[in-house]
Amino acid sequence: MIRSADLQSLHDQLHERVLGEMRDLLAGPGTLEDKRRTLATEVRRMVRESKRILTPSAQNDLVDGVVNTVLGFGPLEPLLRDETVTEIMVNGPDRVFIERKGKVERANVSFRDEDHIRDIVDRIVGPIGRRIDESSPLVDARLPDGSRVNAIIRPLAVSGPSLSIRKFAKVAFHLEDLVKFGTLTQPMADFLRAAVRAKLNIFISGGTGSGKTSTLNALSYEIPTHERIVTVEDSAELQLKHPNMVNLESKPPNIEGRGGYTIRDLVKNALRMRPDRIIVGECRSGETLDMLQAMNTGHDGSLTTAHANTPADALARIETMVLMSGVELPLPAVRRQISGAIHLILQQSRLLDGSRKITAITEVLDLEDNEVKLQDIFRFDQRGVGADGKVIGEFVAAGYRPRALAKIKAMDIPFDEAVLAAP
Ligand SMILES: Nc1ncnc2c1ncn2[C@@H]1O[C@H](COP(=O)(O)OP(=O)(O)O)[C@@H](O)[C@H]1O
Ligand SMILES: [Mg+2]
Repeated sequence: MIRSADLQSLHDQLHERVLGEMRDLLAGPGTLEDKRRTLATEVRRMVRESKRILTPSAQNDLVDGVVNTVLGFGPLEPLLRDETVTEIMVNGPDRVFIERKGKVERANVSFRDEDHIRDIVDRIVGPIGRRIDESSPLVDARLPDGSRVNAIIRPLAVSGPSLSIRKFAKVAFHLEDLVKFGTLTQPMADFLRAAVRAKLNIFISGGTGSGKTSTLNALSYEIPTHERIVTVEDSAELQLKHPNMVNLESKPPNIEGRGGYTIRDLVKNALRMRPDRIIVGECRSGETLDMLQAMNTGHDGSLTTAHANTPADALARIETMVLMSGVELPLPAVRRQISGAIHLILQQSRLLDGSRKITAITEVLDLEDNEVKLQDIFRFDQRGVGADGKVIGEFVAAGYRPRALAKIKAMDIPFDEAVLAAP
């Protein structure tokens, strides 16, 4: 049987042969899938010719390895194909981590050296006309399947080239899926469904990877299909199928710093497109002011997300983002805008055990002593962590009748108020 060092050298020989003999195939026309298939057949033939004794699985690994080296993203390829992997983090040649079902684990793959990582990064960002080198040591890109990639190298990344990939979730969740996962309860889902149909303005707050975009998508599915939707995102992640919909995506400036369009530019443009609803993937900056103004001027039913850890924290974050717009507004005016515009804040959290939960559905009320008042409608009460590491707690209704009910009633949206009763 061949040892793994020999396998590596066999891999390298085959790689070289392929580059020499199959240049026409690689550069020629045809889909990537076709090329992969042809290449695999050829490499298999070369392995047979080499008369090396390999187990069937070693032979398959070898063939896949060569094909991936030549056509794909090398060691990342099996991780990209594995649907259970949601995130890939490369910290160094031998330090690759993945996330599966909310848990981070070490991946069983490695790169030859730092140059090999750089090589793969070039392969990812090259086709979209970006580059990474000492003068531009960080880059955002997307894989052909929509997965988001960030790469950062020396001198900024002092431990060597680092790569983070957020895989494109191929299946989007509906509210019912999230109920099954335990992200929220059926009563909460019933309330949110009614809230979306009644065109409440909803702000989803949460940390990175807490499930904001997934929840935004699930809520958006509840928008009646006859409504016209304009979505604005940094990279198109939402997967809606409404017939009357336009999807806008921001664009970073080119290397000379020109031709960029921000989320804010697109939100302003979206307002001129006669939308029934505007959905902004994530508010990070001054576009928040435009969103609030839109919500305050009849574009009800708008949905967006932002990075914050509690509903109160979300308010503070929204204030900060409004101030980033460059429009000078006194704080009381900003707060009036917020309290007039946003009906609900949904807090999305990723708990210690990796589970994602909607830990609060909170109503935004009027100003009181110059502060925006908040009132929970539902929340998750966490009581501790069990011996198995699982979070212990339960969702409870606060027993509060939200003002939003008036809107739900006025629009004749079916909703059973009993679900709001405290346990
Ligand atoms: N409710 C959920 N339960 C389990 N996994 C989830 C849930 N929501 C999202 N995920 C997974 O978590 C990852 C991050 O979700 P995403 O919605 O992109 O988070 P965010 O927008 O907050 O960064 C994705 O891989 C997604 O499939
Ligand atoms: Mg997101």
